[in-house]
Amino acid sequence: MGPLLLLFSCWTLVGAQTPLFKLRSVTLTIEPATDLLRDANATLWCRAGVSSSGTLTQVPVYTFYKDGTKVFTKKSASAELAYPLLHVRYSNTGKYKCRVDIDGQGENSDTSKLTVTGVSVPLLHLSRSSLSEGEELTATCSAPDERGAFFFYFFVDGREVQDKPARINRADAQLRFNGGGVRQVHCEYTVMLAPGSTKSNKSNTVTVSVRELSFRPVLEIRPVAEVFEGDQLSVSCRPEGNVPGGLLLILTHGTQLLGSGTDHVNSSITAKDSGEIECSFEVGNVPKKATKTLSVTELFSVPRLSVSLAEVFEGDRMVLTCSSAVLVARRLSSEDISYALDSTGPPATDLGGAGRFSAQAPPYHLSYTCAATARGITKHSQALLVWPKVSVVRPSISVVGRVVLGRPFQIRCRSERGSLPINYTLFRKYDPLNVTTVSTPSQEALFTATIQESDDIKLYMCEAANRPNNEGELSPRLNASVIVPLSNATLTTLPAPWDVSEGNALILICGVAGTPPVTFKWYREDGGGGGAQLLFAGTVDGRSTSHRIHPVSRDHSGSYYCEAVNQARNPVRSQTVHIEVRLALWKKGVMAASCLLVLCVAALLCVLHLKSRRGKKEVTTELSVKPSGSKSDDSLTVSLAPDTEAYTAATDAASNSEGTEGRATNGTRDSVASLPADISNRSSYSIPATV
Ligand SMILES: *[C@@H]1O[C@H](CO)[C@@H](O)[C@H](O)[C@H]1NC(C)=O
Ligand SMILES: *[C@@H]1O[C@H](CO)[C@@H](O)[C@H](O)[C@H]1NC(C)=O
Ligand SMILES: *[C@@H]1O[C@H](CO)[C@@H](O)[C@H](O)[C@H]1NC(C)=O
Ligand SMILES: *[C@@H]1O[C@H](CO)[C@@H](O)[C@H](O)[C@H]1NC(C)=O
Ligand SMILES: *[C@@H]1O[C@H](CO)[C@@H](O)[C@H](O)[C@H]1NC(C)=O
Ligand SMILES: *[C@@H]1O[C@H](CO)[C@@H](O)[C@H](O)[C@H]1NC(C)=O
Ligand SMILES: *[C@@H]1O[C@H](CO)[C@@H](O)[C@H](O)[C@H]1NC(C)=O
Repeated sequence: MGPLLLLFSCWTLVGAQTPLFKLRSVTLTIEPATDLLRDANATLWCRAGVSSSGTLTQVPVYTFYKDGTKVFTKKSASAELAYPLLHVRYSNTGKYKCRVDIDGQGENSDTSKLTVTGVSVPLLHLSRSSLSEGEELTATCSAPDERGAFFFYFFVDGREVQDKPARINRADAQLRFNGGGVRQVHCEYTVMLAPGSTKSNKSNTVTVSVRELSFRPVLEIRPVAEVFEGDQLSVSCRPEGNVPGGLLLILTHGTQLLGSGTDHVNSSITAKDSGEIECSFEVGNVPKKATKTLSVTELFSVPRLSVSLAEVFEGDRMVLTCSSAVLVARRLSSEDISYALDSTGPPATDLGGAGRFSAQAPPYHLSYTCAATARGITKHSQALLVWPKVSVVRPSISVVGRVVLGRPFQIRCRSERGSLPINYTLFRKYDPLNVTTVSTPSQEALFTATIQESDDIKLYMCEAANRPNNEGELSPRLNASVIVPLSNATLTTLPAPWDVSEGNALILICGVAGTPPVTFKWYREDGGGGGAQLLFAGTVDGRSTSHRIHPVSRDHSGSYYCEAVNQARNPVRSQTVHIEVRLALWKKGVMAASCLLVLCVAALLCVLHLKSRRGKKEVTTELSVKPSGSKSDDSLTVSLAPDTEAYTAATDAASNSEGTEGRATNGTRDSVASLPADISNRSSYSIPATV
């Protein structure tokens, strides 16, 4: 501090020299402590740390802030400044900081919080200590020595009656008292600071004596004995005492106004509900009232409405029963109660009293209530909501996908209407096979079945039921086409395989047993073992069809078979038929003719030879025709009887030529025709050969 003081004292001596100094730090300390009791003395110290090499031209300015607001500022040549807070109050509580500014340099201290606990005891003063009912007095509550924003609260006999906000440390309240007697009055207050508040202790208590007014209301209810529902009661209300004229009397029962009038109110009521009956009037500003509690004994209970059926379906006749229990048998019998049904739906029929009604369930939901009336008292039941269910209709039965004999398929059963859950039962010949319960709209009733005979499909029916203990609705019989898988594929040729001649037509007939449409394919087997060659394919709506080759050549010799497939997708294959195409008739003729010619020539030569020998020497007659004849016989046999080697050669040739030229049978595939369906007798060739 010594050097600083020296420094500051130089400021005034040395004039306008440029100072070299640095404001290093500013600190704030609160003494004696940051937590203080009310009335203590506190000092806030602001200290500046400065480094300097010359003289300063200005005196430092110290500024103190409380909760961000400037509260004190002062110039001081000293290196520290005190801000005294004498007799601290709750309102001094807050966050403090200070700032030092010298010569354009400024620095803030850290923030320190000062907390002051305790406020002064409030002081209450009343303008009068005795008054009459309806008169007013002024109560003044003050918070001695406190500062800040206040809320004052006034209490009469411990109960808060008024509160007043105030910016100063006192507030007034006008108090009025009803009824005579002695009252205790006190007050309290709260001091508010930005983030909090604190409450004072109770003030001193001041006693007031209140004089009661000499008049009051009188309430009478007759009869006074036990009151039952429906009893007629007479209620009278009148003032008593030395009353000023023109009083307005008000008689109420709970929230219901029974009557009002000047001087008196008489009212006759039917006892229904228990409750308070009040007779009141006001004199000056003083309300005066008399109350009595009316206790009414119930004769019968609130009715209950119930429906006969556990589950109501639309269109059902339902019996609705309304009933009240008789509670006081000596005053009421059950015959005295009459019932009425209330609804917006179809009209209900009264089934001879006793609270039974018959109504038809509508196709929509409906709420019913009923009322029981006796002795002029009507009681309403709670609402009964009837939500009729929808019955199933005759279900439809259908198959999913296609039905193939001998394979499992699915049957779908469905009722267009009906409340869920619905039980679906599948029947075969009236025997239930399986039951499935559909409980959500997305569910389907699907059953799996298998049939061995086409006609068995008609044995299936299904039933939909959604009413307990009730027959369901039966579907029609299942109607669906049944696909019989193919079997017994047979290839038949016309003419017979051993009777096919060159130049004629060859008809290959393929027949199957099973359900049309059928796709047929004819194959010729490659003799070299290279697999089968597809000749022709076609789909017909029948069980057989033919493929015609015309004119047939020796190249057509070979092994044939056919394949067939229908919607059951199980291909079947016929037996293999070997066909050997024979020489044409004219070729045989030419051969026979040439043989004859050879024989003739040979005979002629023989004759000539014999003649010449007979002419020269004796001749031995010997015929040498035999070898030549057997030769021509051999060549015939080769062409007519099926020889394996020759057949193989022919097939090879045919397949070679077809392989290079494309389809050799192209020209002959003009004749695929459906033949009479029943060409099943494949071993006999009895089909009329009209080709
Ligand atoms: C506070 O300061 C005042 C005046 O300086 C003095 O009269 C009083 O006794 C002090 N109170 C306390 C509690 O020190
Ligand atoms: C307030 O009341 C409490 C107990 O009622 C007492 O201990 C306390 O000293 C009172 N405070 C003041 C400031 O009177
Ligand atoms: C009103 O009722 C009281 C008592 O029930 C009866 O004394 C009085 O005469 C009645 N006043 C009138 C105007 O009916
Ligand atoms: C009934 O249906 C269930 C489920 O679909 C099936 O597991 C069961 O085998 C069926 N029973 C008969 C007898 O078909
Ligand atoms: C449906 O089937 C279930 C189980 O088999 C049964 O408990 C229920 O009563 C049936 N519901 C109807 C309406 O038949
Ligand atoms: C079965 O269905 C077919 C076509 O779907 C129809 O022509 C035929 O009349 C139906 N048969 C019966 C008995 O309903
Ligand atoms: C298939 O042929 C066998 C033997 O010839 C015969 O018993 C059977 O009935 C035939 N099947 C059909 C479906 O025609």
